[in-house]
Amino acid sequence: MDVMKFAKKEIAAMQQGMTSRVSVAPTPGMINLGAGDPDFNQPEFINKAVYEAMKAGHTHYAFGGDPEFKAAIAEYYQKYGVTVDPSSQVLIESGGSQAIFRAFGAILDPGDEIVIQDPAYQGYNQPAAYFGASIKHANMTKDENGTFRPDMDNIRAAITGKTKALLICNPDNPCGAVYTQKELEQIAEIAVEKDIVVIADEIYTEYVWGGREHLPIINLPDMWERTMVLMSFSKTFAWTGCRAGYIIAGPELMKVINGVPIGICSMPVPFQKAGTLALKEGWDFVAEMRAEFKKRIDYFVPRLNEIEGITCPMPEGAFYTFVDISELNVPSVDFAREFFHHEKVRCAPGTQYGPNSEGHIRFALVKPVEDLEEVAVRLERFTKDLPQKAPTAFP
Ligand SMILES: Cc1ncc(COP(=O)(O)O)c(C=O)c1O
Repeated sequence: MDVMKFAKKEIAAMQQGMTSRVSVAPTPGMINLGAGDPDFNQPEFINKAVYEAMKAGHTHYAFGGDPEFKAAIAEYYQKYGVTVDPSSQVLIESGGSQAIFRAFGAILDPGDEIVIQDPAYQGYNQPAAYFGASIKHANMTKDENGTFRPDMDNIRAAITGKTKALLICNPDNPCGAVYTQKELEQIAEIAVEKDIVVIADEIYTEYVWGGREHLPIINLPDMWERTMVLMSFSKTFAWTGCRAGYIIAGPELMKVINGVPIGICSMPVPFQKAGTLALKEGWDFVAEMRAEFKKRIDYFVPRLNEIEGITCPMPEGAFYTFVDISELNVPSVDFAREFFHHEKVRCAPGTQYGPNSEGHIRFALVKPVEDLEEVAVRLERFTKDLPQKAPTAFP
């Protein structure tokens, strides 16, 4: 039976069974730097808090989310100089992915356009397609350090009369840029002039390097009612499996976002209770993770740059290296596939992040330095006699 005849047309139009996230079965000797899943387990006091909350009977409906959790979120975001009313400006989500879905669902009609930069995290593509909207890419351009940055001319050029929103990821996955005050001001100016929404994916705010600071675009003039801030516990608290996230927006815009009928509140109440505790007492754990990621970056980036044909800028934020392999003259998909085939190292091909990202691969630094040392050895070996490895892939 052809079940696709039942499918919503946007789903049918997407490749069947396509998903942006797939788990990879373990292979002996594999070093998986593919997905951005931090290799830290959440601390025991947070695990216990989930059970304690259940024992205390916090197992009932919490319509609109637990007020205590929302207050803790508002207090946390205050650290970026943003004052948020927890009841009208915080919406609980089960992770960043759902925050994306809800944000898009609130504003995108079939035929609308959303401007997404390239490179960009691939998890924006399917939700946009699901709502029948099309993505217009605004290519980022490299600065003198080789870091992809937002390009205001390209952003302007991508905006049309059908554009509803511009998406920014700050700090950026995959390319590691942390937006400057000037860049944010320029983007805000464009958003106000073109009268569009800015969706600011800020899930890597806790990982900002080199003395930089995270600056929230929502705080700029006239941005309050046209910005949706998407946040997640996944990277902040290594909480990828427990699913926690939230959206912050102005009260009027929040009413619109709230109109997307996701359900009662999609994060289990005991986890909301544990989330409150994490926001109050989890910062030593975050500091440990941050120090470890920094150690990995400080080791891996210079080591990558020693390898012939490869260059890699120091990320300004997040915990990825976006490596330029263009000199090797190999499509990134072939490179990633054959690197895994020959050396059992998983990385993400640049084209996963858009056509402008060809010539790059991304490593998520979710393994300790000892593993990264081994990855560098394998990468060096792999790139040395690359064309012989798979003559069909490397004409
Ligand atoms: C930029 C960005 N946004 C959103 C997400 C999705 O977050 P979550 O895992 O909480 O659904 C990710 C996950 O890797 C991401 O990198």
